Amino acid sequence: MRSGTVLFENENHLCVVFSDLVPGEDGVQANQFLVVDHGQAALIDPGGDLLYTPLWLAITGYAQLQDIRWILTSHQDPDVVGAVGRWLANTPSQVVCSRLWGRFVPHNVSNYQQGELGEDRYCMISDGGGKVPLGRSFMYALPGHFMHSVGNFCFYDPVSRILFSGDIGSSLIPNSEKYQFVSDFEKHLTRMVGFHRRYMTSNRVLKLWVSMVRQLNPSMIVPQHGLPMKGEQMNAFLSWLYDLECGVDLLRPEHYSLDVLKAAGMPV
Ligand SMILES: [Fe+2]
Ligand SMILES: [Fe+2]
Repeated sequence: MRSGTVLFENENHLCVVFSDLVPGEDGVQANQFLVVDHGQAALIDPGGDLLYTPLWLAITGYAQLQDIRWILTSHQDPDVVGAVGRWLANTPSQVVCSRLWGRFVPHNVSNYQQGELGEDRYCMISDGGGKVPLGRSFMYALPGHFMHSVGNFCFYDPVSRILFSGDIGSSLIPNSEKYQFVSDFEKHLTRMVGFHRRYMTSNRVLKLWVSMVRQLNPSMIVPQHGLPMKGEQMNAFLSWLYDLECGVDLLRPEHYSLDVLKAAGMPV
């Protein structure tokens, strides 16, 4: 039986999300994505060692390891790139990442530069974004810098018009929760607000990103954690994000104090 939830499917193109592969509740719930066009496959944010075997088993319902052309990574966190060494070792793929993280990602790759695992397996994207061919289509990397990573990308699939937004738009849900579109944004907000206020760098960058996404007008926004959004709920999310105070906007002098030394009786 096929696992995962199909987000888009036609004769030659497929987008699937795997939302329930993180076991128990210790690891944060995370979604991994498979996009296939004319038999060629890309994995988006496939995660760390925890997920390598479950994800490998899950994708076999849709694609074979030798079909995987790209490992698309939105940023450098362990829940995104932790197992990239195993994907590179066991598939013919190249990893797509921000140029900023290109020399950090090999820290996850044992035997880097031995045999087939060297620099020709890395496709580094500059700040303005880029595209990689997939089947008879392309996947586009669009800027999402400082949301939260300094070198951060979202991935856009022009066939399904899905925006795979990485951590942007993420919500914290239990690993066991059913994967479905957000139906009541006001209610859903409580599961997003803490994360976005802390992890997004500043309102300035939120406004820039929201303006870009409104021009793009995607069919849905699908984050790496939690539930996807489309239609009215997606528009409500963009409006909320546009006005959110977050990150450095919220910092005050008292957030940078020597209280911990004072409490320990240290002379300051
Ligand atoms: Fe992250
Ligand atoms: Fe994440």
